[in-house]
Amino acid sequence: MYYDDPSTWRSTNWLGIQTAKCPLDLWIFQEIIAETRPDLIIETGTHLGGSALFLASMCDLVGGGEVLTIDIVADPERPQHPRVSYLLGSSTDPEVVEEATRRADEAERVMVILDSDHGEPHVFEELTLLAPLVTPGCYLVVEDTIVNGNPVLPDFGPGPGEAVARYLSLEPSLFVVDRNREKFHLTFNPGGYLRRIGN
Ligand SMILES: C[S@@+](CC[C@H](N)C(=O)[O-])C[C@H]1O[C@@H](n2cnc3c(N)ncnc32)[C@H](O)[C@@H]1O
Repeated sequence: MYYDDPSTWRSTNWLGIQTAKCPLDLWIFQEIIAETRPDLIIETGTHLGGSALFLASMCDLVGGGEVLTIDIVADPERPQHPRVSYLLGSSTDPEVVEEATRRADEAERVMVILDSDHGEPHVFEELTLLAPLVTPGCYLVVEDTIVNGNPVLPDFGPGPGEAVARYLSLEPSLFVVDRNREKFHLTFNPGGYLRRIGN
C-alpha cells in the first residue's frame, strides 16, 4: 500500500528536493552515519540529487564526510553543496570505478549505497566493483531489494535482492546482513543493509 501510493516515497522531499526513499530508511541512514562516521559516501544513482543532499546534511550534522554521487544523466539543476561531488557516467564504467576507487583510497571510512539500475546483472556488477571499497565496520546499502515480489513489483524480474544473494554466496566472509537496520519493519531494503566485517 505504501509503495503504490503516489503520495508517499514519490512525494518525499529533503530541503525541497525530491528524494526517492522511505523516510524510515533515511532515518536508518542517519543512525548508520552517526555511528560509523564515514569520510566518504559513494552513491550510485543520483536522480534529482535529493538523497545526496540528505547524506551531505547528515555529514554536516556529524561534522565530517563527503558524498560522491554517480549517474548516467547530467542535470545542472541538481542542488550544490560543498560536500557533494557529482560524477557523470555508468557506475560500472572503468573510468568511473577508477575515480571512485581513487576517492576511496584517500578516505579512512567508506560507505557505499547502490541505487542506480536495479536489474540483477547491473547490481551484481556494482557489487563486484564497488563493494570492496567499503571499509571494515562501515555499510554497503543495496537499495530496493523489495522489488520482484519481495513484496512489490512481482513482475520486475531478478533485481537487487537476487544480486545480493549471488554476491554473498560468492563472497561469504566480507559482509553480514544487518537485520537490526530493518527494525522499523517498513523498509525498501530488506536484506540490503550489509556491514563489512572482513578485510
Ligand atoms: C532510483 S533513481 C536514484 C534515486 C536517488 N538516489 C534518490 O534517492 O532520490 C536511479 C537513478 O539511477 C540512474 N542510473 C541508471 N543506470 C545507471 C548506471 N548504469 N550508472 C549510474 N546511474 C544509473 C538513473 O539515471 C536514475 O537517476
